[in-house]
Amino acid sequence: MSSEDGEEVFDVLSEGEEVFAPPESFKEQANAGAELYEIENYQEYWAKEAEKLDWFEKWDQTLRWEPPFAQWFVGGKINASYNCLDRHLDSFRKNKAALIWEGEPGDERVLTYNDLHRKVCKFATVLKNQGVQKGDIVTIYLPMIPEAVIAMLACARIGAPHSVVFAGFGPGSLAQRIENADSSFLITADGYYRRGRLIHHKNKSDQALEQTDKVEQCVVVERCGLDVTMNRDRDYWWKDLMSEVKCETPAVKLDSEDLLFLMYTSGTTGKPKGVVHTIGGYMTHVTSTSKYVFDLKEDDTYWCSADVGWITGHSYIVYGILSNGATAVMYEGAPDYPDNNRTWEIIEKYGVNIFYTAPTAIRSFMKHGKKYPQSHNLNSLRLLGSVGEPINPKVWKWYHKNVGNENCPIVDTWWQTETGGIMLSPLPGVIKTRPGSVTRPLPGISAEVLDEEGEPADSGYLAITKPWPGMLRTVYQNDERYKKTYWSKWDDETYFPADGAKIDEDGYFWILGRIDDVINVSGHRLSTMEIESSLVSHSDVAEAAVVGGSDDLKGQVPVAYVMLQEEAENDKLNNGEDEELDFFNADLEEELKDYVAEDIGAIARPRDVTFVPDLPKTRSGKIMRRLLQDITEEEELSDTTTLKNPEIAEKIQDIYC
Ligand code: WTA
Repeated sequence: MSSEDGEEVFDVLSEGEEVFAPPESFKEQANAGAELYEIENYQEYWAKEAEKLDWFEKWDQTLRWEPPFAQWFVGGKINASYNCLDRHLDSFRKNKAALIWEGEPGDERVLTYNDLHRKVCKFATVLKNQGVQKGDIVTIYLPMIPEAVIAMLACARIGAPHSVVFAGFGPGSLAQRIENADSSFLITADGYYRRGRLIHHKNKSDQALEQTDKVEQCVVVERCGLDVTMNRDRDYWWKDLMSEVKCETPAVKLDSEDLLFLMYTSGTTGKPKGVVHTIGGYMTHVTSTSKYVFDLKEDDTYWCSADVGWITGHSYIVYGILSNGATAVMYEGAPDYPDNNRTWEIIEKYGVNIFYTAPTAIRSFMKHGKKYPQSHNLNSLRLLGSVGEPINPKVWKWYHKNVGNENCPIVDTWWQTETGGIMLSPLPGVIKTRPGSVTRPLPGISAEVLDEEGEPADSGYLAITKPWPGMLRTVYQNDERYKKTYWSKWDDETYFPADGAKIDEDGYFWILGRIDDVINVSGHRLSTMEIESSLVSHSDVAEAAVVGGSDDLKGQVPVAYVMLQEEAENDKLNNGEDEELDFFNADLEEELKDYVAEDIGAIARPRDVTFVPDLPKTRSGKIMRRLLQDITEEEELSDTTTLKNPEIAEKIQDIYC
């Protein structure tokens, strides 16, 4: 794989598979060069990348590694908000668009770096006036409106870590995150637009605040002019607070290892975990990868269609993009509202050069047909990206041809909430791509495919073998869970992402998907256990098991198997004809689906709810989800001999079909 001549390394790919070389014109102007694949010392490399940021004081030590705990740029003093805003103000960038925002109904707002800076300074003053101090965790539950970015950067400015909760999540999820973070400050909105509907967001926040008494102050952004109930002792309008303050809060000098944010993500248990990111390392990772992976240039307009409520939005709408001084498009609504032209209209209207989206979106574009992208002028595009789930080669090729006009390199980027930034991805302009492969680890990142014993294998688990600056520092207030989940599969120096992977003879990586109980619904990460916990909290439900069923568009969807409480079973699954229960009740099925959608969020809504007399269990009482998976996918049943109740599998199969 290695060669003495950097230029030639990727020219000799094994034959027989489709290979796409970067267009010459792209290659010539690319930010990345072949020498980046020749890095010898990863710490030196990252130290050099860290110099792309403005530091108040330089660090004394690049990495302090006490496995599995890492500290990067130890002793350095920095502020993320300063790096995203202030440092651009003494150049022509001050009046350059930082955010071009479009609402679903078509309203627009453009915020220059100067505008954004002023608003962030003001909101930082508001936070301080309301009593928020360094280290206090602020929960942000906002839709895709500029105030989400303003609130994040204002928190970062004063050293109050934010915990952004995706607006599509329901009250149960919000309350759980507020509780876990012990957060007494919430920022929300009256409502927002989605697929032409007005979503009453404040109501959802209020429902969450009935489930937790942690929140003492709640700031409400007015987005839609909705009539909302304001609690006089707790709720404040954003615009009232902002009108009273001046733009005067400077960016505080923070320690490189101070908390920047928490991001809750799903794991294998019912409770989401708070992934901890700190300032210096995270900012280095996302600033550097934005520049190389997206090939960001001064005059680019970049659009990432993710929501700021997910890690992709944090790293590649806000921190990595603004720290590079680029122009980001931010869109509030659904990609296909009011019709299938919307995405392409946005690209055409703003002359988007770089477009970053998820395979689930590309699959739905593909389903709608190429006539939609083809009827728009997409010539401004020069680079396309994909993230969130494996991209099927057919979908990759469709994207390349019909969106990229066979002229844009595609960066298929693998990473996670926990990794902070992109880890494996093509370096555009440098490496040849193959549809479906993330190609190689980025410079400064060491990855391998290992087997169960930790030996290198062609097919097995993805492993990260050296620390990296954007890595999570721990699970919030749970070092044990951090060690156990990520650093105990092999040894405490090897990170286990829980993804299956293959590596081919050219050293190209192919990600196969999650190997744990996490499912990927439309590129959104959900834990089957979280959905099970929600179902079980319904008064009729005794036990529940959820698996991921395949879905052409969404990748996976939750499929639930539910055992009712005895009384509910007798009352609700009895068709009255004889003594036998018929395990069917369409109304209750719908009720449970709605219940989950309201509690966790619409993405968690099960496609099917099947009532069953019992669940397949091992002798030690563990639910055997593998069997339920077979039933869901209509495959032959795997071995049932270790079951305590082997007869149940066929019974469930009968009911499901
Ligand atoms: C999956 C999203 C294949 C993977 C940034 C990972 C991918 C999980 C890719 C993390 C990709 C992400 N190819 N699979 N390019 N990117 N994944 O935390 O299973 O929401 O573990 O972070 O998404 O999801 P998360």
